[in-house]
Amino acid sequence: MKLIIKGGTVVTAEKSFKADVLIEDGKIASVGKIADSGCPVIDAKGLHVLPGLIDMHVHLREPGFEGKEDIESGSRAAVAGGFTQVCCMPNTNPVCDNAVVVSYIKNRAKQVNLCKVNPIGAITKGEEGQTLADIGKMKQAGAVALSDDGKSVMNSQIMRLGMEYASGFGLKCLCHCEDAALVDGGVVNEGYNSTLTGLKGSLRAAEDIMVARDIALAESLNLPVHICHVSTYSAVEIIRSAKARGVRVTAETCPHYFTLTDDVITSFDTNTKVNPPLREEKDRKAVTEGLKDGTIDCIVTDHAPHSQKDKQVEYNLAAFGISGIEISFALSYTQLVERGEISLNALVKLMSANPACILGLEGGAIAEGLPADITIVDLSAEYTVDADKWYSKGKNTPFNGKRVKGKVKYTLVGGEIKYQG
Ligand code: DOR
Ligand code: ZN
Ligand code: ZN
Repeated sequence: MKLIIKGGTVVTAEKSFKADVLIEDGKIASVGKIADSGCPVIDAKGLHVLPGLIDMHVHLREPGFEGKEDIESGSRAAVAGGFTQVCCMPNTNPVCDNAVVVSYIKNRAKQVNLCKVNPIGAITKGEEGQTLADIGKMKQAGAVALSDDGKSVMNSQIMRLGMEYASGFGLKCLCHCEDAALVDGGVVNEGYNSTLTGLKGSLRAAEDIMVARDIALAESLNLPVHICHVSTYSAVEIIRSAKARGVRVTAETCPHYFTLTDDVITSFDTNTKVNPPLREEKDRKAVTEGLKDGTIDCIVTDHAPHSQKDKQVEYNLAAFGISGIEISFALSYTQLVERGEISLNALVKLMSANPACILGLEGGAIAEGLPADITIVDLSAEYTVDADKWYSKGKNTPFNGKRVKGKVKYTLVGGEIKYQG
């Protein structure tokens, strides 16, 4: 099977150039001027051709919470968002803390046959923070990383052992950083707006303490660590200085942390409730700076779909999380590239090349021999976010009604068109 992507602008993490892309047997066969040979052609004139986007932090909810999302709806949403690969967190039911659940997720994803789905295994059994999970067997079954996402591994000795075992099997720990005792039931950022609304606040320190602890472990043990969803200015600073010392730390943030502040919680809209919470303007700015100077390595969604009944309750009772895989590219492009904060190449680095590199996944580039995982976007197309039209079952977004620019036109996985917008 051959396919040509004709007349587009190829954008990699390093450069942008006009070129056609020839796909043969699921792989990129060549990049350059390619003559028509009667095979199918995608007309990419006026469009940008990117390496397939990779979201290394999503929640697909299967097994156990299929009312919120399942592997099929989540994969459909992912390809509609331009993602050719996602990595799914283990806070399912049962928790993905063993090889059987890892294999189940991989098999379901294969049947669904849309994007690549890479399971993340739990660090501890049941994400309970007490005993290490079956790390080696999960790796054998195809887990690409470890995390107790949703919570921190509060016992530092267990975390140390988790990092050591993970590294023994060539895996990284992805750390959800929140000191559980300090959060103490907080539902929003502790500050002016928590006082104004009367909602219980959670200090920046709850996040910063765990970021600092996990970096201290990585530094002492000379092991890699990855910090999930950075939201505070102070965490950005801790990571920046650790990197300057040569600590093997990488970090991610999400569109909501560089687009919104906790001013939006004054609406009491439960779609603004997320963990870690939305912070203040100085945090939003620092997270943006972190993306600009390489302190933060990638943009993930933390796509956290929830059902209406989990969200249409009073703020204190609502589930934490924002659904966002279908608008992540547009939000990031609109907020960062359109406003001149970063280049389109830098965005490709943050959303494709770096996640691939951090987890050792194939992809993140457009080069001969690589699988033809490609995202084609129309950067001039503007539209209004409407979650009712999403493939995801999770309509929980604070971005409904927002005007954004950057539309996904095609998502190709292994050379096959999995989404056409
Ligand atoms: O807001 C969040 N939702 N943060 C998390 O860490 C977990 C996630 C979820 O699973 O809903
Ligand atoms: Zn998390
Ligand atoms: Zn998460």
